[in-house]
Amino acid sequence: MEPNFQALRKEFPVLARKTYLNSGSYCALANDVKAAFEAYMEDRLLVGANWDVWITKNESVRALTAKLLNAAPDEIAVTASVSAGLNALASALDFSGPRNKVVISDFEFPTNAQIWHAQEPRGARVVHVPRAADGYIPLENFAKAIDENTQLVAITHVCFRNGAKLDIPGIVRLAHAKGAKVLLDCYQAVGSLDIDVKALELDFAVGGMLKYLLGTAGIAFLYVRDSFIQSLLPTNSGWFAQADIGAMDITANRPAPSARRFEAGTPAVVNAYAAEAGLKFLLAVGTPAIEKRNYALTRRCMQRLQEIGWASVTPVEDERRGATVAVAARDSGGLSKELMKRDIVTSHRDKNIRASFHFYNNDDDVESFIAAMKELRGSFNPA
Ligand SMILES: Cc1ncc(COP(=O)(O)O)c(C=O)c1O
Repeated sequence: MEPNFQALRKEFPVLARKTYLNSGSYCALANDVKAAFEAYMEDRLLVGANWDVWITKNESVRALTAKLLNAAPDEIAVTASVSAGLNALASALDFSGPRNKVVISDFEFPTNAQIWHAQEPRGARVVHVPRAADGYIPLENFAKAIDENTQLVAITHVCFRNGAKLDIPGIVRLAHAKGAKVLLDCYQAVGSLDIDVKALELDFAVGGMLKYLLGTAGIAFLYVRDSFIQSLLPTNSGWFAQADIGAMDITANRPAPSARRFEAGTPAVVNAYAAEAGLKFLLAVGTPAIEKRNYALTRRCMQRLQEIGWASVTPVEDERRGATVAVAARDSGGLSKELMKRDIVTSHRDKNIRASFHFYNNDDDVESFIAAMKELRGSFNPA
């Protein structure tokens, strides 16, 4: 049975005041998540030292993230950010041999490019796969870049600039055929689309809790396929990465046998309270139903934009996009501000404004957005 999306809107108070189309930056706050922040405060005020609960929260986030991705909890590191997870992983890779190439794409979020470029002094060669004339990056462009010297293909799932979704199964096939591993930065997709790391045959994946996962900033995950964990020894480490956190051994580095070896120090505890609540909420709604709803909303939004003569730059095909609709504007920052004056919350990147949808949006949100865009097109439509 389809979830009652209309009823769920009541759980996000901002929706009564705003047309909230900004989940690709950060999600609307759910009552449950607010209550989780408050529970943290209560525990600190009334219990004082509740270390055992702290650890339980972090483990709960690990287990819920594993469930979300169809992974095992031991394959999940709970990190402070995507960047922290990427850095820990990069520190475990060896670029000194002939297989030193890292293939990324023109669609990357900066951190998934900068961190690989930061490995250049360690021998890494970073190759960017360019977009084609239509703005998309087709599989043949990846085929040209991925070869026997490729160690890692590190790609975004959905582009944060234009909402385009890459052909992940196709890229994984190309990479594995050449013996390269694949890292998916799914931060712009996880929670808005259904992601199964096993079905996609991913080797690594990163994402965080701030956007479609309904949580907060400062907490993220790194998935590492179980068969690689033992062979990867991160030099970015810390006491929470050790096999026995309580050992307090200062004579050696003894990494955990699980993906926890990619963690570092004391977890972001208050964030874990919030992330746990967000993940529980999202899993109760269910990502297959959320994906279906997001495609229906974005499809409708793109059709309506076309009708008002201001087509989006996001690919129209479902298999080439996620939950964000990007629209080119003469002054994207100015347009976003004008929309905000009309209680429509969007964000802007480069020349585009981004309207990011989640299950709590509805057709009325699409219509409010379209009505405002129609009113503003004289000043901002670049066409
Ligand atoms: C696709 C993508 N990757 C990575 C990040 C950054 O992650 P973090 O700040 O947790 O390192 C973002 C944040 O907006 C993102 O959209």
